[in-house]
Amino acid sequence: MAEENYNEILKSAPEGVFKRFPLTMVHGIPLMEPIAENWQQIEEFQARTDDLLIATYPKAGTTWMQEIVDLINNEGDIEMARRAPTHVRIPFLEICSPKPLPSGVDILEKTPSPRTIKTHLPFQLVPKSFWKLNCKTIYVARNAKDCVVSFYHFDKMNVTQPEPGSWHEYLQKFMEEKLPLGSWYDHVRGYWDEKDKHRILYMFYEDIKEDPAREIRKVMHFLEKDQSEKVLQKIVHHTLFQVMKENPMANYSSFPTSILDHSISPFMRKGEVGNWKHHFTVAQNEVFDAHYQHRMMGTTLAFRTQI
Ligand code: A3P
Repeated sequence: MAEENYNEILKSAPEGVFKRFPLTMVHGIPLMEPIAENWQQIEEFQARTDDLLIATYPKAGTTWMQEIVDLINNEGDIEMARRAPTHVRIPFLEICSPKPLPSGVDILEKTPSPRTIKTHLPFQLVPKSFWKLNCKTIYVARNAKDCVVSFYHFDKMNVTQPEPGSWHEYLQKFMEEKLPLGSWYDHVRGYWDEKDKHRILYMFYEDIKEDPAREIRKVMHFLEKDQSEKVLQKIVHHTLFQVMKENPMANYSSFPTSILDHSISPFMRKGEVGNWKHHFTVAQNEVFDAHYQHRMMGTTLAFRTQI
């Protein structure tokens, strides 16, 4: 399938195909119904040795890393990075729309190598072929509080996600690990625990924000694509929040409005560290911190900007 066609296929879907889908449990993880219904195809997905996986819990900076990687792969060629929207350039492994629309796997099977692939699946649900072939993976983690705030706004504007309810209800569901993709705690810990057994580069949203050049260098090195200072600075500039927010190929504005309704909340919302402080009440913060300490006990994984 030609890269350009996928957006058009989604846009041409009959009215009413996209709705707020319920969640269905798959191996103990709540997934959107169309994903659960297509689970066998996802589980049996055949990776290729030169695949690169970008894995995240939702709202951790996936799109940001996708843009960074695509620019590195194209040696900082801005025009190349503008050839198609993010989700077309870097397909989403588990995405499934109701039939007869193609699934992420259908698209990936027709994508020439080397492929860069996005996933939100927790480590244990990633198709085993990725780990058997020792594919490289970049994992991006973001502190829990900013993640849940970002996810809340996203679930309001992504009208295929379950109804988010009030902020308070949403925060409860996050702590109860009942949001799509399940537990943030298990997700970030799952990849952290496996990172030294596989080729996983574990990155933090907050680190990229603090020093993008330093962190993009790490990604270049991991991909064995060290590039000049000039290319690096181009990539730093092109992946700044404000620049990506204005870029129609990176801000999801070309995505069908029957799925993402930017009039409710823009996809590129704030792009900050610590935006949670405008959402959590003092009481919510206290409860959250206590629960957080309990859930993250015993791990060496530390988010310096968590609290
Ligand atoms: P906010 O809602 O806090 O603004 P994902 O791509 O994983 O869905 O993550 C989306 C979040 O990353 C959003 O967070 C979005 O604004 C933020 N983001 C996207 N591009 C960014 C960039 N270049 N710099 C900083 N944050 C970015």
